[in-house]
Amino acid sequence: MNSFQLYNPTRLVFGKGTVAQLGELVKPYGKRILLVYGGGSIKRTGLYDEVKAQLDGIGAAVFELSGIEPNPRLSTVNKGIEICRRERVDFILAVGGGSVLDASKAIAAGVPYEGDVWDFCVRKAVIREALPLGTILTLAATGSEMNGNAVISNWELKQKRGMGSKLIYPKFSILDPELTFTVPKDQTTNGIVDMMSHVFEQYFSRTTDTPLQERFAESILQTVIENGEIALADGSNYEARANLMLCGTYALNGTLPLGVVTDWATHGIEHEVSAIYDIAHGAGLAIIFPNWMKYVYKERVDRFVQYAVRVWNVDPAGKSDDEIALAGIEATRAYFTRIGAPATLGQLGIGGEELDRMAAEAVLFGPIGSFKKLEKDDVKAILEMSL
Ligand code: NZQ
Ligand code: ZN
Repeated sequence: MNSFQLYNPTRLVFGKGTVAQLGELVKPYGKRILLVYGGGSIKRTGLYDEVKAQLDGIGAAVFELSGIEPNPRLSTVNKGIEICRRERVDFILAVGGGSVLDASKAIAAGVPYEGDVWDFCVRKAVIREALPLGTILTLAATGSEMNGNAVISNWELKQKRGMGSKLIYPKFSILDPELTFTVPKDQTTNGIVDMMSHVFEQYFSRTTDTPLQERFAESILQTVIENGEIALADGSNYEARANLMLCGTYALNGTLPLGVVTDWATHGIEHEVSAIYDIAHGAGLAIIFPNWMKYVYKERVDRFVQYAVRVWNVDPAGKSDDEIALAGIEATRAYFTRIGAPATLGQLGIGGEELDRMAAEAVLFGPIGSFKKLEKDDVKAILEMSL
């Protein structure tokens, strides 16, 4: 195990009816609030009215930025920055899924910064200051509710890149599982794949002697696998939705990488696909991850054997290590298919035309991944396997 620091300042407010605490949670941070939300799901569910009532209750002045796209765009983030500056906003409230949360974080970082907020995504600048923000999560997937990351798409450049800082952790995140009852099946599936993928990125590591971190990871995977199918069969099953929500948060809130070298190559590759084709992040991961696994498993067969046996209950009797490892990868593929996720880029209408460009962009800052360092040709091979 390597040395590490753990820092997570986000107050998690979890459970039924917790939106009722919003006013009190916002109060210490200010009274001029930018309310950020997506394409309207919060209006349909009634959450918008509840949020407005809470903010009215503390006498806040509320400004709005709606229409945050899935794969949130830089141009929309810039609109939010403008509103904050014009209206002297002192707190940002994000209400929605990962896209709304990420856009809000980028706005928070962009307001006090004199240059282009995209600079944070291309390593031209680091975040030194940010407005405080809070979130109400309506979709269990990204972990953005309890981490310091934001992923933004630059539609003009066809690039999708992340920024990160301890300054953009939400001050609080309200997680009421009932708010996810209305998430449609395809988005529920995308969320399941995304949270499992976050675990994979941190579990398939070359670091040894990390039994606790490995068991944390395996228990999150098993909990997602069990509860994912229940939530898909019955979207209003509170316990299943609650368990999924907690798994999504813990898959990417800094718990799993304690003293572990993490990978993140597959996310890098997926971001290139969604940058060009604007597909859902979870759908891209469902296609690419099993192919990444097949491409790299020989680097450390023992970890893939452990995965197959502990997570998928593959019976090792009479099988070689390679056979056990491959059975675990096949079980992953089969589960994704069973919950309705796509298996090939072709299913999403994506052909091989842009493979070169995507592979080149993925390694723009050098080889990606640590389980196996991937050069451009490796990325291209994985994308070819995914066609
Ligand atoms: O826009 P609205 O109308 O709200 O509809 C959304 C959107 O269409 C809908 N939705 C959300 N909550 C709902 C709901 N529909 C009905 N009922 C509800 N309760 O779901 C659609 C997708 O929302 P989105 O926020 O895009 O999904 P997700 O949470 O999966 O976020 C994906 C984005 O997060 C990034 C991805 O790259 C992608 O851009 N990621 C962010 C990460 C982070 N910050 O740490 C890590 C991830 O790996 C990921 O890269
Ligand atoms: Zn992800």
